[in-house]
Amino acid sequence: MPVVPANAQTIGDAAQALARGDIVAFPTETVYGLGANALDGRAVARVFAAKERPRFNPLIVHVTDIAAAKRYAVFDATARKLVESFWPGPLSLVLPKREGSGIAELVTAGLDTIALRAPNHKVAQALLAAAKLPIAAPSANRSGRISPTLAAHVEAELDDIPAMILDGGPCQLGIESTVISVAGRTPLLLRLGAVPRETIEAVIGQKLALVETDTPIAAPGQLERHYAPNTPLRLGATDVRPGEALLAFGPDVPSGASTSINLSPSGDLQEAAANLFATLRALDDAGARAIAVMPIPNSGLGEAINDRLQRAAKAR
Ligand code: TXA
Ligand code: MG
Repeated sequence: MPVVPANAQTIGDAAQALARGDIVAFPTETVYGLGANALDGRAVARVFAAKERPRFNPLIVHVTDIAAAKRYAVFDATARKLVESFWPGPLSLVLPKREGSGIAELVTAGLDTIALRAPNHKVAQALLAAAKLPIAAPSANRSGRISPTLAAHVEAELDDIPAMILDGGPCQLGIESTVISVAGRTPLLLRLGAVPRETIEAVIGQKLALVETDTPIAAPGQLERHYAPNTPLRLGATDVRPGEALLAFGPDVPSGASTSINLSPSGDLQEAAANLFATLRALDDAGARAIAVMPIPNSGLGEAINDRLQRAAKAR
């Protein structure tokens, strides 16, 4: 049984497992990650194998803070400003990779850039401190599936593939980090996420374009069909059709669904983000013909929520 409650003892054991080249699942404030020592190419290869990623997309490297991050990447003024505002927290920065930093090539998929993030979660921080290693960690789900926000989700996806699954309870934010590239001339938004676009724009004093690209170089992760339940989704639903389950939002909910779960009865986007992935999993298991999804306002965190729902709704 690889799920263990996260405490000083188990975090120490997990740090040793990472140092040995094993892979370990751990909680962050966004979603659970599947971690490997980022300096060890063989350990990183185990992460790709466990996820069954069809191709080697680059991974986010987790560090304790900016001082650690500077060993692996070059920071300019914009990067420093972003980090000072949002770290530790759910913002990943793609930066020019520092030469000779020892990060395994597989982590960055051969690119000359690296994605870094300092998580704001006490278990993740304790693990980084105990391991004294940079930890490469994608979300701890099989490729193309919904990201895990509970240790039980990781177990359902990966069973005993990780050496350990540290259980730190539900992830507070429930949606992955926002990914910004500051490796080029102007900052680019590569993935919508837990820090709303507008919040970042306010800090850097400029608008951010979302790179909706088919070119693997700019935003490799955008190519995959992510966050997918098996049951089809019908977005923007204002009614419930026969045989449908309902993913509701806000106080005014249509009746008639066999199963209905409300992301936030009060219409709070933060609460909705935190509940999103677990709710998609639960409704996927409800045996409905389809899942009707009520409209969600497309501002603030709503933009990332809608992004994940649109990806989930894409036909196989
Ligand atoms: O919240 C999160 O970010 C979670 C937790 C565990 O920290 N991690 C996560 O990792 O979502 P993953 O591997 O599922 O997503 C990494 C994203 C992908 O979209 C990938 O393409 C992008 O970051 N990425 C990583 N390195 C990159 C690089 N050098 N250039 C461009 N995009 C990069
Ligand atoms: Mg992922």
